[in-house]
Formats: sequence, C-alpha cells, structure tokens
Amino acid sequence: MELPLFAVLQRTPRVAVTVSLVLFSLTIVPALYSLLANPIFHLSISSSETEGPLPSDHMLLNHMNSPSSDDPSSLVTTSTSRTQIRDDELRCDLFNGEWIPNDESPYYNNTTCWAIQEHQNCMKFGRPDTGFMRWRWKPDGCDLPIFDPQEFLEMVRGESMGFVGDSISRNQVQSLLCLLSRVEIPQDISSSPDKAFKVWNYTSYNFTLQAMWSPFLVKTTKADPTDPECYLFNLYLDEYDTKWTSQINQLDYLVISSGHWFSRPVIFYENENISGCQYCGLPNTTQLPSYYGYRKALRTSLRAILENFKGLAVLRSFSPHHFEGGPWDKGGDCVRTRPYRRNETIPEVADLKNHDIQLEEFRAAAEEGMKKMGLRLRLMDTTQAMLLRPDGHPGRYGHLQTTNVSLRNDCIHWCLPGPIDTWNDILLQMMKTEK
Ligand SMILES: *[C@@H]1O[C@H](CO)[C@@H](O)[C@H](O)[C@H]1NC(C)=O
Ligand SMILES: *[C@@H]1O[C@H](CO)[C@@H](O)[C@H](O)[C@H]1NC(C)=O
Ligand SMILES: *[C@@H]1O[C@H](CO)[C@@H](O)[C@H](O)[C@H]1NC(C)=O
Ligand SMILES: *[C@@H]1O[C@H](CO)[C@@H](O)[C@H](O)[C@H]1NC(C)=O
Ligand SMILES: *[C@@H]1O[C@H](CO)[C@@H](O)[C@H](O)[C@H]1NC(C)=O
Ligand SMILES: *[C@@H]1O[C@H](CO)[C@@H](O)[C@H](O)[C@H]1NC(C)=O
Ligand SMILES: *[C@@H]1O[C@H](CO)[C@@H](O)[C@H](O)[C@H]1NC(C)=O
Ligand SMILES: *[C@@H]1O[C@H](CO)[C@@H](O)[C@H](O)[C@H]1NC(C)=O
Repeated sequence: MELPLFAVLQRTPRVAVTVSLVLFSLTIVPALYSLLANPIFHLSISSSETEGPLPSDHMLLNHMNSPSSDDPSSLVTTSTSRTQIRDDELRCDLFNGEWIPNDESPYYNNTTCWAIQEHQNCMKFGRPDTGFMRWRWKPDGCDLPIFDPQEFLEMVRGESMGFVGDSISRNQVQSLLCLLSRVEIPQDISSSPDKAFKVWNYTSYNFTLQAMWSPFLVKTTKADPTDPECYLFNLYLDEYDTKWTSQINQLDYLVISSGHWFSRPVIFYENENISGCQYCGLPNTTQLPSYYGYRKALRTSLRAILENFKGLAVLRSFSPHHFEGGPWDKGGDCVRTRPYRRNETIPEVADLKNHDIQLEEFRAAAEEGMKKMGLRLRLMDTTQAMLLRPDGHPGRYGHLQTTNVSLRNDCIHWCLPGPIDTWNDILLQMMKTEK
C-alpha cells in the first residue's frame, strides 16, 4: 500500500489487535525464532548474552500499529507549530528538512576507521552504489554544520558521555567513533571483557565514551536462563536496569534510545508479579496490547534519568526500518539508492507508534525534569529524517554474498559511513545549543 509520507503519520484504525496476535503466534513466532537463532546476524561486538538482530515484522507491525490520529504529538504538527528563526542555527528546528546532495562526504571509510562493525560495513560486502553516503540533512530554518571532531572533543574535554540502548544505539556510537577517528583513536578502558559495556578514553581530551547495552531499557532476564537459545525474556517493567542506571550519575551526557526489541515475545512483570505477556503463548497469562510494554519501560527509564542524572540527556527517537516487497523474514529488502524527497509518496513504514509513545513519554518526563537542577532532557527527533532514507540500510550487504541468506536482509541498521552519521551532526548541534 502506498501512502503519502504524512498520511503514514496520521494513521487510521486498522485490524483488531487480537487478530494480529493470533496471526503472530501462528505464523510469525516460529520464523522469529529461526531468525534469532541464525548465526548470520551474529553481531561481532556483542557478547553471546546480548547478540542478536532486531527483528520486527513489517507486515505484523503494520497491522499492530494502533493509530493515534487524534494524538497532537504526531510528526507533522511539529513542523507547523515550530518557531522558525532563520539564520539562527542555535534555535533552529533541526528535525524538519530535506536531504540535499553533499559532494564532500563521506568523512571516513572502512580503511580510515577502525570501528565499523562487519554488519554495517556495506562496502566490504560489495554494495555497488556509493551515492547513499553523499547526502546531508538540511533543516528548513538553517544549515546543520557537518560534525567537526575537533570542536566536539574540545567541547567535551574532561567530561563523559554514555549511550544506552540496542544495536542501533551502538550503530550511532560506532559512527561517532569513526567521525572522531580523524582526530584521535581512543583507549579501550572497559572494565570487563563484556562487550555489551564498552568504555573508551580519549586521553588527549580526558573524555570518556561509554556504550551500554540495554535493548529493553528495564531489568530483563531470560525466561529460561539455562537455555542459551532462549529468546523469551522477562521484562520487569517497573524496575531499573541497574547495569546502566547505576552508571549515569557519573556522566555529563546521556543518549538513550530503543524500540525494536519490543516486538519480541516477552513476559511482563510489575510489582514483582507477572502482569501479562506478549506473544508468549503461556496458559492463564493475559496478552497485553502491543506497545504496552514499550510505554512502561520507557517511562521507567526516563524516571531513572530524572532520579539519577544531572547532565544533558537526549532521547533519540525511533529509527524506522524500510523493508519492501515483504516482511523481514519473507524476502523483504531495501534496494533503493536515493533518499525520498519530502513531497514524495513512500511505502507505509511499520512501527511508528513507538515514535508517538516516545513523544508522549518524553513530554511528561521533560515537564517533571524542569524541576530538577542541572538536568536537561531533550528530544532528538530524527524519525522523520530517517523515514526519508530507505537507501541507508545494509540490505543484503550486511554479510558475505556467498552466504545463503537470500531471505534475510538488514533494513534496520544503517551502513557506515551513511545517513546515521547525521545523528552525530545533530547531537553536536544540540550540545552547542545547551552550552
Ligand atoms: C578511504 O579514504 C582514504 C582517504 O580519503 C582513501 O585514500 C582510500 O582510498 C579510501 N579507501 C576506500 C576503501 O575507499
Ligand atoms: C573496504 O571496502 C572495500 C570496498 O570499498 C573492500 O574491498 C575492502 O575489503 C573493505 N575493507 C575493510 C577492511 O573492510
Ligand atoms: C579527567 O576528568 C575527570 C572527570 O571526568 C576528572 O575527575 C579528572 O581529574 C580529569 N583528569 C585530568 C588529568 O584532567
Ligand atoms: C583518561 O586519560 C587521561 C589521560 O591519560 C587520564 O588522566 C584519565 O584518568 C583517564 N580516564 C579514565 C576514566 O581512565
Ligand atoms: C503477587 O501475586 C500473589 C498472588 O496473586 C499475591 O499474593 C502477592 O501479594 C503479589 N505480590 C505483590 C508484591 O503484589
Ligand atoms: C488456568 O486457570 C484455570 C482456572 O483458574 C485452572 O483450572 C487451570 O489449572 C490453570 N492452568 C494453568 C496451566 O495454570
Ligand atoms: C517534489 O519537489 C521537487 C523539488 O521541489 C520537485 O522537483 C518535484 O517535482 C516534486 N515532486 C512531487 C511528487 O511533487
Ligand atoms: C538458499 O535458500 C533458498 C531458500 O531457503 C533455497 O531455496 C536455495 O536452494 C538455497 N540455495 C543454496 C545454494 O543453498
């Protein structure tokens, strides 16, 4: 189904969730498990505990996207309510704009940067086109400067920054490591071999950068800890994931994000008891509506930030995927080689309800956060920009072409170099605004 971009953002009610749930458990779950168990998606820098893809079924999520057409926080309203101040970069709305050609990019490649992970090293695996690297984001009201690594490092001298989230969060960290690699290669000072928690020190600047793995953001355990193949998780929706929440009081900057993992089978706990589940197929367990868990988990993690953090916290909004021609497990692919223009008709993108929830929870938390000295909670609303970048994903170039994975293409993560580098342009710009 083709819809104009903005129609996508103002969705209308669709199929009943229960129907989708039944369809999901009958047809999708087995496929989901097989993808999860598939070593092709092995992410080389994650530990065995945490590795995995971000499966989100396109068709499924299309059905399950419950609409919010009456929700004032849709992407569209931000563009009309925006106060646009031309020639004032610092106060410009960075999140509405167009992608425009940039002959100067890319600013690094797989020989100059050490930090590109295999699955996002699209050129290594033979991606034939390079045009996807040659765009920059142009907000309507101003120019967004390209990331200046020297300027960034000067700004964060003696400070520390952490990223919390899933493999897309890690994707952004690797982009940042690459952008900074033109100035300095950091020392790995991670305190344990656990690849899910990495710490680097830019010693010339005494700047530390941390990547903290927490795809569900809240306390999570495996339903069967003895089974390494177990991909049913227990989510404690009202309990912090202390692996990251215990770290953040030492940080000056925090970038948090999540979303894709919440379409997996999970059992929810609240008040220390099972409150329901999602695609778990357990008897006598309430199937809770989709997005129930996401909203609660996000709310809990924003609360952790309000309680324990007193720097600049950035909630990075949902990163859309671009499967076309089928769901992720049925041959869906992303073969486009150009960004969309804003006025173009684009295929419907699944899972945007996550974005609505982020805006709602962000607003509630930001209001709360204003009362706290030092804390600044900001939204990095890159969803709309990324909706326009179907060309930026690895697709079939996230792995060796000899591997028989014709059915599985990665239209979720982003090639490096690629459009995700823009997130760091925006991050630096937001930091400058706050200084
Ligand atoms: C990477 O960039 C360097 C410096 O611009 C260039 O010399 C080199 O050929 C590039 N390598 C690849 C594989 O594109
Ligand atoms: C880098 O990309 C080139 C293609 O542009 C590829 O031939 C090469 O193997 C890649 N190198 C690394 C180290 O990934
Ligand atoms: C490095 O920064 C930390 C704070 O992040 C500070 O406590 C420490 O004194 C700094 N070290 C030097 C050598 O400047
Ligand atoms: C980072 O490196 C600087 C310079 O060597 C050092 O003073 C600082 O203690 C290091 N920071 C950490 C957290 O190890
Ligand atoms: C958990 O559920 C049990 C049985 O339904 C109940 O007795 C117990 O009080 C509950 N625990 C909490 C902490 O609510
Ligand atoms: C489910 O609940 C029913 C009614 O309370 C009970 O008879 C049945 O044993 C329960 N099944 C399981 C597996 O707990
Ligand atoms: C979109 O805008 C571009 C540039 O303004 C224009 O060339 C193109 O025809 C427009 N496309 C549609 C579908 O309106
Ligand atoms: C690759 O997988 C497809 C789908 O499972 C199968 O039809 C095909 O025979 C496989 N090709 C090879 C070379 O194994």
